Amino acid sequence: MDMTCIDKIDEYMEYELTEKRIRHTEGVVETAVALAKKLGADPDKALIAAKCHDICRKWDDERMNAFVTLNQLGDAYIDNINLSHSKAAAHVAKVAFGISDEDILNAISYHTTGRAGMSLLEKIIFIADATEPNRDYPGVEALREALEEDIDKACLLSLQGTRDYVLSQEKYLDDDTQEAIEWFEIGAPTEGYPKKKEKEEDDEFDFNNLDLTDLMMF
Ligand SMILES: [Fe+2]
Ligand SMILES: [Fe+2]
Repeated sequence: MDMTCIDKIDEYMEYELTEKRIRHTEGVVETAVALAKKLGADPDKALIAAKCHDICRKWDDERMNAFVTLNQLGDAYIDNINLSHSKAAAHVAKVAFGISDEDILNAISYHTTGRAGMSLLEKIIFIADATEPNRDYPGVEALREALEEDIDKACLLSLQGTRDYVLSQEKYLDDDTQEAIEWFEIGAPTEGYPKKKEKEEDDEFDFNNLDLTDLMMF
């Protein structure tokens, strides 16, 4: 794995993120690398994806909404940094840090929503984000306990928590989250899983076509 991107990522993090967010990211790195070693994923890929996952979390609304509009991510992503920051981060990882590994880019892109058919690396980044040592919220201990036992069980529990919270707030629940829940509920089969909703071609998120030219700030 080419690790020459690490210095650039660290530099960007220093510039873009608060100390608290950097501490969170370090926690995700630590948790994700440990999980990768335990579960047989590539620890270097886990490290890179974890470092990148929140790099756009502190973009202001103007910048993020411009990104969302420019890339036609849809109205649900406007004024919704919780969803949009992962898509922006996948693109920054690709264009600014030269990361081309699709599994790393997907792990970054789906770290908030999850999705049906998640790879092992995607699951690792998703659950490391939710359970890293600095996380402190009701239910996090139950997630950590589930994770000791089975990563799929922990992912499902976390996704259900997200769904319940989002719906209780009467906010938009991303289709990917609902589909991920249904997929984990049938045992997370590696292939041949049904998709509840037939997606239009345009619905599929494609970070290869994103345009960020005017939004890069170094
Ligand atoms: Fe995030
Ligand atoms: Fe995060």
